[in-house]
Amino acid sequence: MDVPFFSRRLLRRPWKRYPEGGLKDAFKGYFKIGASVSPWHVRHLGHMISFEFNSLTADNAMKPSSTEPQKGRFYWEKADRIANFCRRKGIKLRGHTLMWHKQIGSWMYSDKDGSLLSKEEFYANMKEHIFAIVRRFKDIVYAWDVVNEAIAEIPTNPDQPLRESPMWQIAGEEFIYKAFEYAHEADPDALLFYNDYDEANPEKSKQIFSLVKRMKEAGIPIDGIGMQGHYDIYSPSPEEVDHAISRYKTLVKHIHITELDLRIHPGDPPEWQEQIREPMRNASLSKKEEEQQIQRYVDFFRVFMKHADVIDCVSFWNLGDRDSWLGVANSPLLFDVYYLPKKSYFAIKNLGLFRS
Ligand code: G3I
Repeated sequence: MDVPFFSRRLLRRPWKRYPEGGLKDAFKGYFKIGASVSPWHVRHLGHMISFEFNSLTADNAMKPSSTEPQKGRFYWEKADRIANFCRRKGIKLRGHTLMWHKQIGSWMYSDKDGSLLSKEEFYANMKEHIFAIVRRFKDIVYAWDVVNEAIAEIPTNPDQPLRESPMWQIAGEEFIYKAFEYAHEADPDALLFYNDYDEANPEKSKQIFSLVKRMKEAGIPIDGIGMQGHYDIYSPSPEEVDHAISRYKTLVKHIHITELDLRIHPGDPPEWQEQIREPMRNASLSKKEEEQQIQRYVDFFRVFMKHADVIDCVSFWNLGDRDSWLGVANSPLLFDVYYLPKKSYFAIKNLGLFRS
């Protein structure tokens, strides 16, 4: 039988029962703990969010397709709701994301007939967009994922490692540099990140490293690397993650784990449309899968703690399993479909509290 989604009683939270505080308190002195949220979450789960987290990211509300779907037509309501929640609660906000090949209005790079714009027109659009959003949230956003996922899928072509997005077709690698320059001009105090996935894979991490190195050498204002952290319970290994961080930190002073989740089933998640038909009940994992997931979470956090000199924030992508882009069956987060903490929550929290 399906359990009803959640009741007021559940929302009245078990959180108060934890005198030691939430995840953010357990990792005080190491790094901030974050999660990605929608306006719905901050409205209905405010207590839980402010108890557990001290950094938030908008899961979709600050992307170009949400804030400026057509040229010059800005829709700030959803982003404002998250930003205002952060302002009220004193929670820091990570900005996600300024330039991505997905969730961006095609007006940014093409005309009405679908032909690509000239470099000058594209840069003018990009500058106007970046200035508008970065300046609006200057008081609350401390870090921006300026460019997201600009490197091609594995296997990458070493001669042309970048994704052949419309932006790349117009301007080549230079569009990445320009995005960082505009973001820095709009808010010189924000930390600016290049953010990507498969970032612990030896082949992809080599390309991320080279791109950021070229940017540094060209004097581009980049502060950090965002490691998305979309892992599964078998791969990558904690050693691979450790190795990638060790290399990245020779280049940048800041690393954020930006989108952590640990899926049970390796491979691409089911399509969005299929997921919404899933019944909202917790996934039934085998004991082995559950234990493996807990162990992996703990091992990854040990690696993050080892590199706390450079890691300022570890953020989960979504709050509870029912929100995850990976679908409920992957059971990828620390909170279940009712936003109740899972065993992995306590395992990680204890690691932070007892600092072993
Ligand atoms: O809002 C519409 C809804 O009206 C419609 O009925 C429904 C059915 O198609 O779609 C809804 O929009 C979905 C949107 O999320 C809002 O939840 C889109 O289809 C869906 O494609 C979109 O997915 C987002 C995805 O980025 C897009 O690539 C996920 O929520 C979001 O979590 C995910 O986040 C990305 C990061 O930004 C970058 N790194 C990878 C990460 C996971 O894919």
